[in-house]
Amino acid sequence: MDSILIRGGKPLNGTITISGAKNAALPLMVATLLTDEPVILSNVPDLMDIATMTALLRGHGTVATHQADGTWHLHTPDITSTTAHYDIVRKMRASVLVLGPLLARERQATVSLPGGCAIGTRPVNIHIEGLAAMGAQIEIEGGYMKAVAPQGLKGAKINMSTVSVGATENLLTAAVLADGTTVLENAAREPEIADLIDLLVAMGAEIEGRGTDRLTVHGKDRLHGASHRVLPDRIETGTFAVAAAITGGDILLAGADPETVEAIMEPISRAGATIDNLPEGIRVRRNGAGILGVDVMTQPYPGFPTDMQAQIMALMSISHGAAMITETIFENRFMHVPELGRMGANINVHGGSALVRGVPKLKGAPVMATDLRASVSLVLAGLAAEGETRVNRVYHLDRGYERLEAKLVACGADVERVRE
Ligand code: EPZ
Repeated sequence: MDSILIRGGKPLNGTITISGAKNAALPLMVATLLTDEPVILSNVPDLMDIATMTALLRGHGTVATHQADGTWHLHTPDITSTTAHYDIVRKMRASVLVLGPLLARERQATVSLPGGCAIGTRPVNIHIEGLAAMGAQIEIEGGYMKAVAPQGLKGAKINMSTVSVGATENLLTAAVLADGTTVLENAAREPEIADLIDLLVAMGAEIEGRGTDRLTVHGKDRLHGASHRVLPDRIETGTFAVAAAITGGDILLAGADPETVEAIMEPISRAGATIDNLPEGIRVRRNGAGILGVDVMTQPYPGFPTDMQAQIMALMSISHGAAMITETIFENRFMHVPELGRMGANINVHGGSALVRGVPKLKGAPVMATDLRASVSLVLAGLAAEGETRVNRVYHLDRGYERLEAKLVACGADVERVRE
């Protein structure tokens, strides 16, 4: 298995162009199932998860082609299968997002339950309850959700018990073709959802409340083709902002969207980095002064994202003082803690909180992690550490960071992929 070898201790200086957002592109690709006309998505990142999603959509009848610049042409004249198999859903949980669109367009869908994953149990009860409220009959059989709506889906008022990005996306993409009006309360407000709403509206959907936790959807008989550009990845932006701060460097994050990263930049700035929003992107730098300890708690948007928790922890591990990092979204998202510990970090976990006592230096070590963000936090720690860090199980990084090593090397990092 490939690994990434990092010789740390070099400040990163230069420009990194931010890619399109993985977590926006995946639901956008699924939404193309809602119409028999072609949909064009540009700025789609070149990632393993995008390849997995393409394979899933092809299984449902999508003709998918793309150009080197990340422009995808997705066309599903007919849905050829309404089943999403375990083999693909277990690889990528976002596969469950096909449930809503398949039910809406074909009145039936059979989708494997994703099961737990490295960061928590991650149930899909809110997806199921919402679709049931819209008239779907859903049974669990042989590990699959078997859903039918012989009369079609009907608009409903749905109050989601937990703020869920995926459930909001699934219910939105079901409601746009339902008969009547659907109101989604306690909806997630992540920018990726606003991006999905923008595509759906371009396809002819009628949705009120974009950016709020109450979305009203007036169902349509059919949607049509459209073109849409995927928004910049706010988690990639935050990750490279930490790379600048942790190495004492100076990076321009070209094309980053300042509006979507306020909660991410706030603690990085309080920790001592200087952040400037410029016309061409966001400049993050830290000259000389050390990192200060800053407490952080993960929250649904507009709070600090769980997908940046591991990266900020890597930064805090070299702070002067201490930081309390509290995870409120997933119950098991501290797998990076023992690995950072192997690099000399001083971190104690008590329930959902981790107390990070800063150490003057991290030291390189062989490490590995079991999810994407935990893996990248080890890369960040390796960039700041003395000596050599080998991050194993690189396939996690390939799922979500486009050309990670190349972007870091262009800023002066000593990073290479070791193929085995
Ligand atoms: C999305 O996952 C992201 N994935 C995750 O990013 C991200 O960590 C997460 O949102 C939170 O921001 C994609 O967008 C593809 P949720 P999702 O439903 O939609 C509970 C990454 O690293 N819940 O918002 O699966 C759930 O267990 C990934 O890029 C229920 O209880 O997350 C969790 O505690 C990892 N029942 C909370 O809600 C449900 O039916 C939020 O999960 C659904 C969710």
